[in-house]
Amino acid sequence: MRVVTRPGTRQREKPIPGTLFADSGASVVAHFSPTARVVLYEGDALDLLRTLPPGLAGLVVTSPPYNIGKPYERRVDLGVYLEQQRQVIEECVRVLSPKGSICWQVGNFVQRNEIVPLDIALYPMFKQHGLKLRNRIVWHFEHGLHCSRRLSGRHETILWFTKTDDYVFNVDPVRVPQKYPFKKAFKGPRLGQYTSNPLGKNPGDVWIIPNVKHNHVEKTEHPCQFPVELVDRLVLALTDPDDWVVDPFIGVGTTAVSAIRQGRRCAGADIVPRYLEIARERVALAAQGLLRVRPMDRPVYDPAANGLGAVDGVSPSRRCR
Ligand SMILES: C[S@@+](CC[C@H](N)C(=O)[O-])C[C@H]1O[C@@H](n2cnc3c(N)ncnc32)[C@H](O)[C@@H]1O
Repeated sequence: MRVVTRPGTRQREKPIPGTLFADSGASVVAHFSPTARVVLYEGDALDLLRTLPPGLAGLVVTSPPYNIGKPYERRVDLGVYLEQQRQVIEECVRVLSPKGSICWQVGNFVQRNEIVPLDIALYPMFKQHGLKLRNRIVWHFEHGLHCSRRLSGRHETILWFTKTDDYVFNVDPVRVPQKYPFKKAFKGPRLGQYTSNPLGKNPGDVWIIPNVKHNHVEKTEHPCQFPVELVDRLVLALTDPDDWVVDPFIGVGTTAVSAIRQGRRCAGADIVPRYLEIARERVALAAQGLLRVRPMDRPVYDPAANGLGAVDGVSPSRRCR
């Protein structure tokens, strides 16, 4: 692996984990150290979590394997899978700070065309530890497998739990544009004044964010990586600067990329060395402001609005009605 230093300059060898990335100020280490900015542990999630001190994490955010036979997992009986998840969740709760949040992003386990929504199966494991569900965020995207015997899946969910009632929640950095920003009060003491918050509105619990498919700027060779903007929203809203963000199944390091971009620290694990190699490269680029990401405020691309996809002059959005 090679790391780009500046656009247009010569590439240099990868820094040895544990050193400071030149020009970036971000130190990446392979084992937990309280002074590191990023920990990328090669191995099992539980092995990393057991090295983290209790109460470390402001946020645990992850997308675990779904046990559906992806290249990075071995499909096991659903009960065995759920027991593995239970153990990881237990450790995550231990490392979570009293003001902290856990966000578990999952889809469906599928067997013989029957689906098991994993959030439903996992919910009791969080409740068992007294965590409180704040939102079940629906992440809607438009691309994915086409199903022939059921409706194609176009959403997954994020269960957002907090450890206590006193938790970090900063909504201002994740506000989205108001639908009617110039609406004014037509009666009462605020007559004639703007009625909506000029900083934008609360983003709600249905997030329309493109998933990382082939033409996405963030696409790597990982088959199921998070979009950075999805993690950015959670990191900005649920942590403060310098907080630790922990991802036990970190893949190609999207959570670490978000943490670095937003001035937080990150510890994550993955069992696939190649994914961690890519993660280290992405973190180094992000630390230097050179990683290309899809911005959080970019509207979803609409081919019809851009005059594309029309057949015989009829746009795709009208054809299906
Ligand atoms: C859904 S992917 C996560 C992708 C990640 N959110 C990203 O943006 O790259 C799940 C990851 O869990 C990893 N994994 C599977 N079993 C694991 C284990 N026991 N410990 C740590 N990581 C594991 C896989 O290699 C895979 O990269």
